[in-house]
Amino acid sequence: RRPLIIAPSILSADFADFGREIEAIEAQGADWVHVDVMDGHFVPNLTFGPPAVAAFRRHVKTVMDVHLMIAPVDPSIEAFAEAGADVITAHVEAGPHIHRTLQAIRGTGKKAGVALNPGTPAEAVQHLLDLTDLVCVMTVNPGFGGQRFLDMTDKIRALRAMIGDRPVQIEIDGGVTPETAPKVVAAGADVLVAGSAVFKGGSVANPAPYGANMRAI
Ligand code: DX5
Ligand code: ZN
Repeated sequence: RRPLIIAPSILSADFADFGREIEAIEAQGADWVHVDVMDGHFVPNLTFGPPAVAAFRRHVKTVMDVHLMIAPVDPSIEAFAEAGADVITAHVEAGPHIHRTLQAIRGTGKKAGVALNPGTPAEAVQHLLDLTDLVCVMTVNPGFGGQRFLDMTDKIRALRAMIGDRPVQIEIDGGVTPETAPKVVAAGADVLVAGSAVFKGGSVANPAPYGANMRAI
């Protein structure tokens, strides 16, 4: 089967020391680095804008996976592309024109992802699959790390069937731990985002827990 990609979310990293946090997770084998952009409007939390993402880019050697939890999305696509994102993911719930948004992301030359909140059915992406490189299934309501996993196994299976042989990856975001990961992988996940499970117990002084937690996932 396809190789499993582990994408630690730096939302659970030390916000005063991103450079060393990113280097530590990459040294421990992170495949991608997941960056959660929140606007205090689409979700009830505020995180990073394009200048911060550009600063992360100077440390991220692998794929930088930028998850936009912002509305509107379109006015910021160019800025996040220029900041060095490799994958840019927008939510279907963030506006009425997700089709246009995905075209705009692809127009920058970046990979386009589409995310689904827990309450949104798989069918919402049915007519977007040829414009999409990745479907992100949220297994928490977006906004915060460390929330309890919501079981979306049926949605993941439905997406796997809908995608067929298209080159579209399924990413799972929220509450992924060594306990919940096997279930989503069995249902068809390709990319696992993990924030609190990867960084739990970690510190710059003692980076060993990153690796221990990632191997367990
Ligand atoms: C939630 C974010 C996630 C978050 C996951 O809104 O999109 O990427 O960092 O954190 P954990 O793994 O702690 O649920
Ligand atoms: Zn995310």
